[in-house]
This record gives sequence, C-alpha cells and structure tokens, in this order.
Amino acid sequence: MEKLKILGHRGASGYAPENTMEAFRLAIQQHADGFEIDIHITKDGEIVVIHDDTIDRTSNGTGNVTDLTLAELKQFNYNAGFEQEYATAEIPTLSQVLELVKTHNLYLNIEIKDIMTNVGKYDGLNVAAAKLVQEYELVDQVIFSSFNHSSMVELKQACPEISTGLLHFSKLYQGEEYAKSANADALHPLFSIVDKSTVEQAHQQGIQINAWTVNQAAVMEEMIDAGVDAIITDFPDVAYRLRESKQA
Ligand code: G3P
Ligand code: MG
Repeated sequence: MEKLKILGHRGASGYAPENTMEAFRLAIQQHADGFEIDIHITKDGEIVVIHDDTIDRTSNGTGNVTDLTLAELKQFNYNAGFEQEYATAEIPTLSQVLELVKTHNLYLNIEIKDIMTNVGKYDGLNVAAAKLVQEYELVDQVIFSSFNHSSMVELKQACPEISTGLLHFSKLYQGEEYAKSANADALHPLFSIVDKSTVEQAHQQGIQINAWTVNQAAVMEEMIDAGVDAIITDFPDVAYRLRESKQA
C-alpha cells in the first residue's frame, strides 16, 4: 500500500484563508502531500477555486460566482477570518493551482461543486476541469471528487484516465461495489463513518478511502490505524507530525 497522503483541506485552512494561494503555500510548508480544493465556474467561463457558490462568506464582496467575471472576482479580498495574519488574499484560478501542483510535484483533490448550488448544475465543468488537468500533464497527481456521483460517472466516461472519488456523509450499503459500479477509484467518506473493515473491504476491491475533514489528532490516529489512503485536514502540520511519529 502506498504511504498515507496528507491533503490540506482548502489548503492549510486552519491557519490561512481557505482556498487561496496563501493557504496552499502554507500547506506545502507544513509538509502536506497536496491539497483539496473546491471549484466553480465564473460568468466568463473561467474555473475558479472557492467553496461556496457566492463570494459573501469568504470575501469582502457579494454575489454569485457565476454572475461575476474573473476580472470582477479578482477585485475582492478573500482573507475573511484571517484579516490580522493576511492583509490580502486572492481567489485563484484552477490553472494557478495546477501550476503550483506541477512546480512542487504535489497531489491534488479537485472537488467539483456541481451539486446543490442555488444557481443550477454546472454542466460540463467536470470535463472542462479534467481537460485542463490533462493539458498540465497532471493526470497521475489529481483525483476529482463530488457529492454528485452522476457527474463522476460522466467524467469517467468522457475521460477514462482521470481518477474519480465519490463523496458521502453516510454509510453506504456495499460501498465498494457501488464505487465499482460507478467506475470510481475512491470513496471520500466523512471521517465519522470510517472504520477498519470498511477500509479493508474497499481495498480488497481496489477502491481507495480518502477521509475528510479530519482535524483532531486523536481522530487522525484512528484514520491512520483504520488504514485510510488519505487524510484531508485543515491542519496538515498536525497530521504530518503524527504520521512521522507513527513511522518512527
Ligand atoms: O472534499 C472533502 C470536503 O471538502 C467535502 O465537503 O463542504 O468541505 O467541500 P466541503
Ligand atoms: Mg471540499
């Protein structure tokens, strides 16, 4: 089995403004193997990295991402919650993040926010993002995920070489069989529904388990002991120290 991956959730978002270059650079400094990001599409068709479908919570602006152009989105400050530590923080494009991933040889989980938005489903965002990953020659370092499992099936059909993960909150009946039926490479469960037997059953079928959002050291330890493939955390430094101490 490959070494456990530590992925900064929205970057090192426990210490820096989520889904910004600042949070991604900090995750790298904290020895993360990569990060998890969320993507949306702008009014002018650019793919941007932000969690919500509006900019209200994370910036000093307001409005739907899909109603604003990239140039308009770039005018706002995305340092919400970390105003003291970071005077400014920019909304990144997916290309900017892929560039960083390439430079530092990292692993990236791209979560497509193509479900439950108040502005409709993002038809085609899955394949458009995958094409960009292919252009950057990062196919082996990227896994896509979504709560919209049909989107992941569609993506795999369009781009079979792209890895996909199915996000879920509650236990799945025969999850590994379900994942296989969707041609997925991984399940991305909420940490609280992960246990050793679920992980073993998934691994027997060649399905990875990437758990989120694992923020407490004790829970990180449980996940490592359960044998998960990746821990997605706001605090990559904590996970790194734990992984190192367990390997020592
Ligand atoms: O991808 C794991 C996690 O990010 C899913 O939930 O809401 O934090 O994007 P959310
Ligand atoms: Mg996410």
